[in-house]
Amino acid sequence: MDALIPVLNKLQDVFNTVGSETIQLPQIVVVGSQSAGKSSVLENLVGRDFLPRGAGIVTRRPLTLQLVYTLPEDKEMQCNHLGVSVPKEDEFAVFAHIKGKVYTDFNEVRQEIETETDRLGGKKNISNEPIILKIYSPKVVTLSLIDLPGLTKIPVEDQPVDIEQQVRNLIMHYITNPNCIILAITPANVDFSTSEAVKFAKEIDPEGRRTLAVLTKLDLMDRGTDAYDVLCGRIIPVKLGIIGVVNRSQEDIHKKKPIEEALRYEAAFLQKNYPSIASRNGTPFLAKTLNRLLMHHIRDCLPALKTRINVMVSQFQTLVSSFGEPIEDKGRLLLQIITKFASSYCATIEGTARNIEVAELC
Ligand code: GDP
Ligand code: NA
Ligand code: MG
Repeated sequence: MDALIPVLNKLQDVFNTVGSETIQLPQIVVVGSQSAGKSSVLENLVGRDFLPRGAGIVTRRPLTLQLVYTLPEDKEMQCNHLGVSVPKEDEFAVFAHIKGKVYTDFNEVRQEIETETDRLGGKKNISNEPIILKIYSPKVVTLSLIDLPGLTKIPVEDQPVDIEQQVRNLIMHYITNPNCIILAITPANVDFSTSEAVKFAKEIDPEGRRTLAVLTKLDLMDRGTDAYDVLCGRIIPVKLGIIGVVNRSQEDIHKKKPIEEALRYEAAFLQKNYPSIASRNGTPFLAKTLNRLLMHHIRDCLPALKTRINVMVSQFQTLVSSFGEPIEDKGRLLLQIITKFASSYCATIEGTARNIEVAELC
């Protein structure tokens, strides 16, 4: 099943390159109030420290994060394809806005995200322009994830007065895409029944077909309270599920607590405080659930995607023939690229649909 997603990522590359938004591919988008733990959840899913996190509006531009499962033996090929030198590390990252540079130090990745965030909009304002980061690793599931600024109510300092609307529009832009899975993030120390994230997701996905709720900060609940009712869907049911997690605290971040240690802590915390539902919560279960949802989602989108690709190919064919002779090199190249991807993609669609059906039976 994992064979499908590299193809999707490649396609996305092509369409990013030609600047077309005609094809919308499945993505996972985090939505929630400021400091709910959105960046922390994404970082845990990736298993690497690289996202700027903290109090306040730290994430001010969309970050498109493409995780690409890459075995060590495929590293060289991948790097050649990217036009970067081959690092000795098996995990490396590249930014779309910095050609030819490969990152293996994830602190440097975080610094670059911070610099690039400030470059547009400065220290407070948000920008719609996404930062595109790809991480190649043998330790990730191939997925595209998008980190977004948090829902906010009150402008701070020199933020524009309409910051709330700006952020809502930005989030809306991503989650109205019917091909996206919404990760609605709510901290456990606020009232779940008033969750901004769940409310917003419901507006866009009223039937809850592509919304998964995540409850963060289980460790920060008032003494004597627990999240059993929320996690079991007794407060607000969420069709695809509500998964509780424990991310690193601000103090953990200061002390540079490694992710592995944080995951062990999370597992022990769940075992101790939520023994009967521990196996259905936590970051590893979230990752597994997401992967499954993505596969189902992709399967459901395949027929429509295929139709769109075919329509696009014929549009380009018409366009290219309208150039007449001599044909422009660019036009021809574009057509070749699109046709090539379209045909391999359509073949993959057939194969994948079959594979998913078979996997469902097992
Ligand atoms: P975002 O604004 O939604 O992206 O939230 P961040 O991921 O930046 O997290 C905001 C703050 O909350 C940071 O200081 C995190 O360390 C902290 N935080 C996030 N999740 C948890 C959690 O599960 N437990 C604890 N104790 N702190 C958390
Ligand atoms: Na924050
Ligand atoms: Mg953030």
